[in-house]
Amino acid sequence: MARLLQLSDLHVVSPGSLASGVLDTGAILRRAIDQLANKLDALGPLDGVLVTGDVSDDGSHESYVVARAELDRLGLPLLVVPGNHDDRAAFHAGFSDLPAMPASGLIDWLQEVGDTFVIGLDTLVEGKGGGVLRRESLAFLSVALSEAGSRPTVVALHHPPLRTGIRFMDAIGLENASALWPILDEAGGSVTVVAGHVHGIYQRRIGRHLVATAPSICSAFALDIRTDAPVGFFTGPTGCALIDTGPEGVWSAIPLETGEGPFPF
Ligand SMILES: [Fe+2]
Repeated sequence: MARLLQLSDLHVVSPGSLASGVLDTGAILRRAIDQLANKLDALGPLDGVLVTGDVSDDGSHESYVVARAELDRLGLPLLVVPGNHDDRAAFHAGFSDLPAMPASGLIDWLQEVGDTFVIGLDTLVEGKGGGVLRRESLAFLSVALSEAGSRPTVVALHHPPLRTGIRFMDAIGLENASALWPILDEAGGSVTVVAGHVHGIYQRRIGRHLVATAPSICSAFALDIRTDAPVGFFTGPTGCALIDTGPEGVWSAIPLETGEGPFPF
């Protein structure tokens, strides 16, 4: 089994800036890492930290330096996939030393953590909010799943293959989510698909498989499915998640802070 802390949507900006003019996301991440560092004993042995995208808000090199310094304070191996706010080149530069990171191009990777296959997929379309799984990433997934066989498997991507009902988020979802279904169907075991992007906790099943989205480290979106729902974010509740791939493994949300809003983007 593997136990991974899942952090998502850090939205770090270059020092001196605020995300959306409101959030000091560097300071928010620092507080979150402080809280998590204090919880490490309580959470039990962990095998790594899996970050499901939007490490940066502005794509600046400086933001990755800040995020990396904070993430490294947990002293755990890092696994990272990019989100729509990330800049692929700056992301590569910020995490090029991680064993699973490809040297260039799409950030699709496979990392074995104990007996668990962890597969990262790149859904970033630079300049767009929505995401897509390209043919190369789908082929990569298919090969990785056949290698995994019946072993515990986690698939990590930023844009979740689910719709929350929040219109402004569903409008920038995973464009070809249904391309995942036939590939997951062929998996030898049940797969846990973990994502971020929607800044909240949502789950769905796809056959034998579970899709779960982690809360964001820095902000939240209200579940409001009305057509005239305000478009914006709240400063909380924030949190992260714990993925346990053992035979009785549980995907658990870990609350960090409650908050205020809505603030416009
Ligand atoms: Fe985000």
